[in-house]
Amino acid sequence: MNYSTGPYPFIARGASAELFDIGEGRALKLFGDSVSDEMIAREAEVSIHAGACGVPTAAAIGQQAWEGRRGIIYPRLEGSTLMDWIRRNPMRAGWALDRMGEIQAAMHRAGEGRAGGGTLRSLKQVLTTDIAYGPASDALQRVAIAYLETLPDGDALTHGDFHLGNVMMTPQGMMVIDWSKAATGHPAADAVRSEMLMRFGIGPSDWVTNLWRDWAAGRLRKSYLGSSEVTAQEMDQWRPVVALAWLRARDAGRTPAFIRCLDKALRRSGIGSLRPA
Ligand SMILES: Nc1ncnc2c1ncn2[C@@H]1O[C@H](COP(=O)(O)OP(=O)(O)OP(=O)(O)O)[C@@H](O)[C@H]1O
Ligand SMILES: [Mg+2]
Repeated sequence: MNYSTGPYPFIARGASAELFDIGEGRALKLFGDSVSDEMIAREAEVSIHAGACGVPTAAAIGQQAWEGRRGIIYPRLEGSTLMDWIRRNPMRAGWALDRMGEIQAAMHRAGEGRAGGGTLRSLKQVLTTDIAYGPASDALQRVAIAYLETLPDGDALTHGDFHLGNVMMTPQGMMVIDWSKAATGHPAADAVRSEMLMRFGIGPSDWVTNLWRDWAAGRLRKSYLGSSEVTAQEMDQWRPVVALAWLRARDAGRTPAFIRCLDKALRRSGIGSLRPA
């Protein structure tokens, strides 16, 4: 994606889209060509579903294309992402991470038992597909998928990409954005995903930042566990399959550390190892 000139004043950009201010309190999110129609439709539909469930978010208002680029119209949120907010307020990072964990737990509860009229995919199905199309050996895939089948389905609203760049700090409080990877499933799987995004996701990965990342992941996890019904054991159970599924489409740094974490989780769960003896 290499655009940045748009029809309206520029607001911000993510990896796959750019936001423009179209006036009257609205923002137009224009997507890059690599984003599928299905992803765009899901993002818009789930944002509406999440809003209806009471999750603090910007629910899509409509769709609008510009010069062949597909777009969604959202209410414009004031403020910045948590990532930018923490950069400006580093001493308040712990407080922000605690609130972020609480919001994630509240989001899981808000969507419980409401599949959004068929809008939401099954998280277990998504993980199964990602493992099956990922780079692990056939033998490891088979055992991992059989293990995944023994885990409970769950019926929480899972975000799938709940990281510092997808929560905004606004005058109305924290708001969750970017629902393109949402599904319905077990909340522990979503919490594990966030823990891994914090530790091994896109962004700087020098050693000081890595220390901060590991600390932040621990803080988020503690806050999440303190405000949800999910246990640390359940997060441990989901870790190997969530991490293995992430191997399919991971474009982030810290790969050796991530692989060590994945391998440890695979061994502990009895699924196997990436490096068979
Ligand atoms: N409703 C909104 N109002 C104002 N700014 C927004 C809004 N939604 C998103 N933004 C800003 O635009 C940036 C990109 O948005 P978003 O995360 O939805 O895009 P993306 O390209 O899908 O992201 P990613 O990099 O996670 O793939 C956000 O980080 C945020 O700064
Ligand atoms: Mg984003």
